[in-house]
Amino acid sequence: MKILVLNGPNLSRLDIRDSAIYGGFSYPQLVDFIEKSAQERGLEVDVRQSNEEAEIIGWLHEAADNAMPVIINPAAFTHYSYAIRDAAELLKSPLIEVHLSNPMAREEFRHTSVISGIAKGTIAGFGPNSYILALDAMKTLLHK
Ligand code: DQA
Repeated sequence: MKILVLNGPNLSRLDIRDSAIYGGFSYPQLVDFIEKSAQERGLEVDVRQSNEEAEIIGWLHEAADNAMPVIINPAAFTHYSYAIRDAAELLKSPLIEVHLSNPMAREEFRHTSVISGIAKGTIAGFGPNSYILALDAMKTLLHK
């Protein structure tokens, strides 16, 4: 079963975002790392990124219709998109929320996640390894 890995706004520009927070690697490098790590674990992933809320909502509808598990880094949408939360609530398979940084250790507006409440769990603060920890968690969930 394919795992949809969704990434929200500005993650495509990781290489020019604050390297003290995001590590200085590029989005293609992140995708490559996720794809290789998934392959090593015998998992199939479809990694996507969008700066648009509507596109992410469409992908969540697709995942709901096809009972696909989802790993999502909603980026800034994490903190205020009720529309993404409502779409994620339609999923029949598990959803895991991930973040490269630890939003709780950053500005106060990042301390709220409107997604966490409907996620199976949240993994944050481990850089690209947040995604790999999420892959391992998803593998366990799917094999239960
Ligand atoms: C982020 C954290 C968010 O607060 C921020 O808006 C992002 C990235 C992360 O992965 O650390 O764009 O989701």
